[in-house]
Amino acid sequence: MNFETYSKYYDLLYQDKDYAKEAAYLIEQYSAIKGETPKSILDLGCGTGIHAFEMSKLTNGKVHGIDRSVDMIDKARNKYSDESLLNFTESDILDFQSDERFDFVISVFHILSYQTSNDAFNQYFKVAADHLNKDGVFVFDCWYGPCVLNIRPETRFKVFESDQIKLKRAALPDLKFQENLVDVNYDISILEKSSGHFTEFSELHPMRYYFMPEIKMMLKKHNLKLLNAKEWMSDQNLSEITWSACFVVSK
Ligand SMILES: C[S@@+](CC[C@H](N)C(=O)[O-])C[C@H]1O[C@@H](n2cnc3c(N)ncnc32)[C@H](O)[C@@H]1O
Repeated sequence: MNFETYSKYYDLLYQDKDYAKEAAYLIEQYSAIKGETPKSILDLGCGTGIHAFEMSKLTNGKVHGIDRSVDMIDKARNKYSDESLLNFTESDILDFQSDERFDFVISVFHILSYQTSNDAFNQYFKVAADHLNKDGVFVFDCWYGPCVLNIRPETRFKVFESDQIKLKRAALPDLKFQENLVDVNYDISILEKSSGHFTEFSELHPMRYYFMPEIKMMLKKHNLKLLNAKEWMSDQNLSEITWSACFVVSK
């Protein structure tokens, strides 16, 4: 299972990601349609809970985060133990069942792309649709097929350094174009400066890139209406240079 060891360093690796701005963007997508902020939010694949926290601050509403990684959920619970509006559950999205219905369901930072089989693709949309209120809004993003095949994934390196540690991450992609998959192998090394202790580990993240016709087919199957499809965090239309596509749909 991915995000086992990776989760320990997740917040460090993404410390420059502007979660507050992303949360504001997500709430804007909802408000533009509904003319108000959502009162209840479900975050599918919430990770360490930062979007949940930021969205709750913006709306003063409840946010329920779901993630299958026990370590990510533990981190979210520990960070936000004082936040009464936040609730985190360890569950696979695909198995998630609740009687609760939400105004707004979000699932971002490529959660759909982690659903690599056709069954998972279908079940992901079923769970999102099942937990939406009537006229509720669902926002999700994914790797966009035309761009992945056009640009092709490349090896990328990231270095993070603090007073305590130096962390290096190499992301090595293997494009499996018969399966619409990219196997991303993360090689991570960590040096603890005080002890000189050195740790290395690898984690495989298979990512599926999706195309518009299959997404439209799945939305139709689950009675979801496509309202908008743009580049994530931008007003650009989807194209062969859009890596991350963001979809706004309603029930
Ligand atoms: C790249 S992280 C994004 C986390 C968070 N949304 C963020 O923006 O920081 C992907 C997360 O999706 C979770 N995930 C992927 N597929 C899942 C599934 N089927 N059920 C539950 N969690 C899933 C992983 O455990 C991981 O925490």
